[in-house]
Amino acid sequence: MATPLQRLSIDTDPDRIADTLLETGALIIEGFLGDDTLGAFNREVDGALRRERPERRFMSPVYDAFFGTRTRHLTGLCGRSGVFREQIMCHPLYLALCDRILLPNCARYQLNYGHIFEITPGGQRQFLHRDGDCWSYLRADYEIEVASILALGDFTASNGATLVIPGSHRWPRDRVLDYADAVPAEMPAGSALLYLGGTAHAAGENRTPDTLRRGMHVSYCLGWLRTEENNYLSASLESVREYPRQVQELMGYAAHDAAPEGGCLGVYDMLDPVTLLNSGRL
Ligand SMILES: [Fe+2]
Repeated sequence: MATPLQRLSIDTDPDRIADTLLETGALIIEGFLGDDTLGAFNREVDGALRRERPERRFMSPVYDAFFGTRTRHLTGLCGRSGVFREQIMCHPLYLALCDRILLPNCARYQLNYGHIFEITPGGQRQFLHRDGDCWSYLRADYEIEVASILALGDFTASNGATLVIPGSHRWPRDRVLDYADAVPAEMPAGSALLYLGGTAHAAGENRTPDTLRRGMHVSYCLGWLRTEENNYLSASLESVREYPRQVQELMGYAAHDAAPEGGCLGVYDMLDPVTLLNSGRL
């Protein structure tokens, strides 16, 4: 019998949300985005998303099989959307969870990926997977990623709500992942499914005749890992200079300074790029 997903309100104390997430591996936050932010973001990305072709192919056959041919994708969101940059990727709850869950094992954390998925009718379910396996060379006994799927429209069991296995972040990695253990993250638009890099999940099948399921993966990882999306390429340096410093830092422009224990990563001219950006030297 599958374990049900817990649901908490956005007004819940962030420490309690972090504790619950670490314990259960997945939970739903209702009211994560307000209606105004949600509406403004959807309007901002509508045009670009409409131009995406669901049948487009990706960098490898594995990617192709994983994403199928019925889903529209939109990435590079830091460069595309001011709402994403300033109201979503800097959302106080994301940052509070990253402070609590990631910061013990890095000097700073960073945006890993912002990725809209719009599953059209007939879209097949993904295979059950763990996002943290992107860093398959790493064998960490601590959390490396805080992830989420934001519902940009209503998520239902029939339109492709994410399937997730609560508790699977603590399973032995050789335990078989079975859809019978997964529950659909049914939630109204504006809610967020929060999960960890070790939590098994999959996008669901869109069995409706005419409903799009629009969702967005947003995740953060330890600052010394390579990110899934190359966020430096999502906006020109000219644009990045105008972004708030917090956005620049989360995009990876800040050096990861773990000195004296670990030294510096991501320096330029032996200096911190985010300092150079904000002093007119880059
Ligand atoms: Fe995933």
